[in-house]
Amino acid sequence: MSAELIDGFGRKIDYVRLSVTDRCDFRCIYCMAEDMTFLPRQRILTLEEIERCAEIFIANGVRKIRLTGGEPLTRKGIVGLCERISAIPGLDELVMTTNGSQLTKYAQPLADAGVKRLNISLDSLCPDKFKTMTRVGDLQQVLAGIQAARQAGFKNLKINSVIIQGHNDDEILALTDYAISNQLDITFIEEMPLGHVGRERSLFSSDQVRDSIAERYALLDSTESSGGPARYMRLKDYPTTRIGFISPHSHNFCSTCNRVRITVEGKLLLCLGNEHSLDLLALLRRYPLSNEPVLASIHKALNNKPEKHHFSSDGDVQIVRFMNASGG
Ligand code: GTP
Ligand code: 5AD
Ligand code: SF4
Repeated sequence: MSAELIDGFGRKIDYVRLSVTDRCDFRCIYCMAEDMTFLPRQRILTLEEIERCAEIFIANGVRKIRLTGGEPLTRKGIVGLCERISAIPGLDELVMTTNGSQLTKYAQPLADAGVKRLNISLDSLCPDKFKTMTRVGDLQQVLAGIQAARQAGFKNLKINSVIIQGHNDDEILALTDYAISNQLDITFIEEMPLGHVGRERSLFSSDQVRDSIAERYALLDSTESSGGPARYMRLKDYPTTRIGFISPHSHNFCSTCNRVRITVEGKLLLCLGNEHSLDLLALLRRYPLSNEPVLASIHKALNNKPEKHHFSSDGDVQIVRFMNASGG
C-alpha cells in the first residue's frame, strides 16, 4: 500500500486536523447556537483511538497534525496525548488551535509536550464585545493566556479573528496593532456557514479587511505559506507580524487542499464544506489489531474527497453540522 495519501484530484494529503472534543467553554456566535447538546462519552474516540489515528496517518505521509475542537484544552488527558503524538516518528509538527481561555495553566505543559505552534482565537479587544461574541468568554483571561504562551517560548504564535459586520469590523486596526505590538501573526477569517447558529450570516470579505489595514499600514504581497489555507501579506515596517487571510468565499483555496479532518465522533471528514466521510471509529473498533484494512478504507475514501466546498455567502446554511463538531 502506498505510503502517501493522494486524493482523486491528485492532491497530496499531509495535514490532518484532529478534533479531540466537541465541547467548549465558549459559545462563539459564528460557531455554536446558544443552546448546544454535546456528544455522550461512548460516541467519541478514546485517547488511545486518537493516538492510533495519528499513527496511521503519519505512517502514510502526514507531516502536520493540528489538534482542534471544540476547545481542545477541555479534553482530560490532553497534555499526555500531545506528548505521545509529538513523539511519533515522521511528524514534522504537532500544532493546536485554542480559544486561549486555559493557556495560563496549559501553555508551558503544551510546550514541554512538544506542541510547536498555537493559533489562538481573538475576535475583539473590547471586554463587552468579546463577551457578546463568545457569549461567555472573559477577554482578560485570554489575553493573559496569550502572554503565557509567549513566556513559554512559543514561536510564530498566531491570532485568528473572524470578522463579522456590526460586531468587530471596527476592530480590524486595533487587532492588527495588538498583533504588531506583541510580535504575533494574525489571520482574518471569513465566516463560514456551518450550522444554524441563530443569527443571519453575511459576508465581510478579506478584501474589505485588507483595505482597512491599508489605511494605516503598508502591506506587501508574499508567497509564504504555513501549510494551511491562509494567504499572507507582510507589513513593510513590522517584519515580526504577518497578516493572513482565510477567504473561503472570496478567494477559494480548495485546489491546493492538503488536509482532512477527523471529528471527535471518529468520522474522517473529507471536506469541511461537504458531508463525504468515512466511519473511522467503526473501523478502528472492528479491526483492533490491524491497521491495514483501516488504511485500505482511507485510500478508498480519499478518492471521493470533493473538489471544493460550495459555501454560499448570503447566509444560507447548507451544512447543518456545527463548526465545533467539524474540527474547525
Ligand atoms: P496554520 O497551520 O497556521 O496555517 O493553521 P490553519 O489556518 O490551517 O488552522 P486554524 O485552526 O487556525 O484554522 C483557521 C481557519 O481556517 C478556521 O476557520 C478553519 O475552519 C479554516 N480552515 C482550515 N482548513 C480549512 C479548509 O480546508 N476549508 C475551509 N473552508 N476552511 C478551513
Ligand atoms: N467560520 C469561520 N471560522 C470559524 N471558526 C469557528 N467557527 C467558524 C466559522 N463559522 C474559527 C475559530 C477558530 C478556528 C478553529 O475556526 O475562530 O479560530
Ligand atoms: Fe469554542 Fe472555538 Fe467554537 Fe468559539 S469557535 S465556541 S472557542 S470551539
